[in-house]
Amino acid sequence: MDFSRVIAARRSLRAFSDRPVEPVKIERMIEAARWSPSCANRQPWRFVIVPMGDPARPALEEALNAGNAWAKRAPVLIVTGAGKADGAVVESREYFLHDTGLATMSLLYRAVDQGLLVHPMAGWKEEPLKAALSLPDDFCPIAVIAVGYAGKPEDMDEEARRKDEVPRTRKETGEIAFRGRFGDPLAASLPSAPAKVFETDIPLRFGDIDAMGHVNNAVTMTLFELGRAKFFAEVMGVGKIEDYEVILAEATVRYRLPILLQDQVRLRMHITDVARSSFRFRAELFDPRDGRVFTEAETVQVMYDYGKGRVKHVSPEFLEKVRDYIGG
Ligand SMILES: Cc1cc2nc3c(=O)[nH]c(=O)nc-3n(C[C@H](O)[C@H](O)[C@H](O)COP(=O)(O)O)c2cc1C
Repeated sequence: MDFSRVIAARRSLRAFSDRPVEPVKIERMIEAARWSPSCANRQPWRFVIVPMGDPARPALEEALNAGNAWAKRAPVLIVTGAGKADGAVVESREYFLHDTGLATMSLLYRAVDQGLLVHPMAGWKEEPLKAALSLPDDFCPIAVIAVGYAGKPEDMDEEARRKDEVPRTRKETGEIAFRGRFGDPLAASLPSAPAKVFETDIPLRFGDIDAMGHVNNAVTMTLFELGRAKFFAEVMGVGKIEDYEVILAEATVRYRLPILLQDQVRLRMHITDVARSSFRFRAELFDPRDGRVFTEAETVQVMYDYGKGRVKHVSPEFLEKVRDYIGG
């Protein structure tokens, strides 16, 4: 998945399905964490993986606070923490919590990249958690991360459902980033919410499959075209091809996995890099059932006045309609 999409897609939601998580996905998450930076390369992070059915699981669930009962449905719980003995100290600054946080972020993003839902928690009791996992004395547990696939909000209790519906908020850029000296706000120019992703199902037809048994890149391009047409219709309200005001000037298609006839294909896309007379779409075809990304594409659209036969500027009306979908 494109990295800006990973950032936008990560949400600490609470509805987990009972679909098991493939062990290789957990292994990739750990691998991402393993290659994180750490002060003096001390790598203080540790992760204890506790899947559903593990003998330690009931005791770990017991250690969760009542407000985190929703996490018991998650097929995997990962306890993160730091070995203090491996922590670097510079002057009086102790870096073990910082470095474990960095590694945890890599782990979370790699999970999202693989279509998983991850939710870190501080709401648990330390002594029962330590006992459940036989943690050594010099080990400092930091978070429990619920890992799984997104489920249906209906399967949660009222309290958890209500929490998931609370709108996401963030401090303003100028409150957290300064220019030159502390307190002088950094000016922000980007939209303050992560870009919305336009998603639509792409039906596969028998005729889309070639002699090799999969969808080749030439056909994939037409699947992206279908998605773009749906975007123009649903977001911009331009339903007829003859009303298009754009030319597809450039397209890059990156093959990652074969699309087979039995695959379910969904497209997600957003806009990047709006220039004076053009804009870019970044798009992916993926299987919504497991998050596998088949193909990535980037296209450049040039605004064009077909009547006058010349390039024109991106209009304020266009920007108004697509604003929510523009991301960095
Ligand atoms: C260290 C840490 C502890 C957290 N503890 C809990 C928790 O115990 N229960 C919970 O429901 N969410 C918990 N969260 C999730 C935060 O509430 C969430 O990250 C925050 O509201 C921002 O939402 P977002 O992650 O969807 O962007 C925790 C997050 C972090 C990083």
